[in-house]
Amino acid sequence: CLLPRVVRELLHDRLSPALWNLLMAIAKQAEVRGWQLYLVGGAVRDLLLSGTNNSKQAQSSLPDIDLVVDGFHQTADQAAGVELARSLQQTYPDARLQVHGRFQTAALTWHNHPEFDSLWVDIATARTEFYPYPAANPEVEASSIRQDLYRRDFTINALAIRLTPPRVGEMLDFFGGLLDLKAKQIRVLHANSFIEDPTRIFRAVRFAVRLGFAIDPQTEGYIHHAIASGVYHRIQLEMEKTPALQTRLKQELKYILEAPYWKSAVRLLSDLGAMCCIHSNLHLDDRLWWQLRLVDRWLRRFDTNHTLEQWLVLLEVLLAQLATPDRVKVAENLQLPADSIERLRSLDQIQANLMANLPACFRPSQIYQHLHPYNLPTLTLLAVLMPRHTRRQIWHYLTHLTTVKPPIDGNDLKAMGYKPGKQYKPMLEALLNATLDGEIHDRSQAEAFLQATFPSP
Ligand code: CTP
Repeated sequence: CLLPRVVRELLHDRLSPALWNLLMAIAKQAEVRGWQLYLVGGAVRDLLLSGTNNSKQAQSSLPDIDLVVDGFHQTADQAAGVELARSLQQTYPDARLQVHGRFQTAALTWHNHPEFDSLWVDIATARTEFYPYPAANPEVEASSIRQDLYRRDFTINALAIRLTPPRVGEMLDFFGGLLDLKAKQIRVLHANSFIEDPTRIFRAVRFAVRLGFAIDPQTEGYIHHAIASGVYHRIQLEMEKTPALQTRLKQELKYILEAPYWKSAVRLLSDLGAMCCIHSNLHLDDRLWWQLRLVDRWLRRFDTNHTLEQWLVLLEVLLAQLATPDRVKVAENLQLPADSIERLRSLDQIQANLMANLPACFRPSQIYQHLHPYNLPTLTLLAVLMPRHTRRQIWHYLTHLTTVKPPIDGNDLKAMGYKPGKQYKPMLEALLNATLDGEIHDRSQAEAFLQATFPSP
């Protein structure tokens, strides 16, 4: 029942009026140039899914908007997508325009717009260069968008909706994406898909878990084949030469590890034998699985304001399984932040130091002094890597010792007549240690402690 009229109504229904008007304005610009404009990718997929679910999620549930323009008469100096975006910007001067890539994709973005809120619209140009044309020939027109769609990852992401007349709302489904949406399956368009773009294995897992779809058995076979072929191993060796691939791989890892469904996704990656795509020595054994869940619990407990990038700490747990040179190499290849790389580099050393010192620490102030130099991500990583006794000490440090405050602060010292200066630091430290060790509970005890330890001002 996906007649153009029905799809058009679905679009009209699901998109906010402002977004619908925007799409129609872009389509108009394409039409006057004799070009065809299509809505493609995730927006089409999610639109159809929201339609079948009968859910009321409208624009807010749609991902960024990906458009493809078939522009046969594009000017020599700029791709059709860029020309469309530039002309659009005159109607929407508050949009920010970016042009990127070899194929000149244009992106129009809005932030905090009264009608769109935040919106990202990509306008790519269908790659017509392999195709001879007279423009009026619909065969060629179709082949061009077909070629563009054929380059995509999964059938459910290779659907397009025509936005230009005369067949506005026409659904282009060259590869069976509609059937796969219905059958709830993730299927690639061709056997080499994962070899061509190795990040697609992570995407397959992400979409499968997020949408509750299954990976089609043949596609799963291609995943196994790609892994067995050693493609990921070769990529690891050549990571430095492929910065774009690293960026995409990092992005996919981020998407997976920050999603609420990260546990199912990691399990599925492991079941597919795909953990080795991150590094050939990486395997999800029981211990690593336990470590990941524990870190997740600790972060939820101690990073309640979400000030940390929790996905990054989970990734560090994965990488911490590897020998130090390997983990640092992978972290550098993925261009993780400098403090992450440094943590992964120094983890063994810190662990050795703490193992040498913490077991002999019985006074809370000693534990405090040893753990105080480290931040929450480091302590969380250490906690899962170290024996239970040390983990308990770290837990005690985070839950209790970090909350302890001496009953007297610097202002009080001043009021007591101590001259402000360098000597405040050891005084306050001594006060904190005595408080941690339970020798001081209140202000008068603190004053007595000060007078005994640091002679009168
Ligand atoms: N794509 C692809 N291969 C990739 C990445 C992207 O073929 N490795 C194509 C897919 O057609 C995808 C589109 O580019 O639909 C846009 O990519 P992206 O924004 O990453 O994915 P979405 O499908 O929009 O998914 P999401 O809802 O997660 O944004």
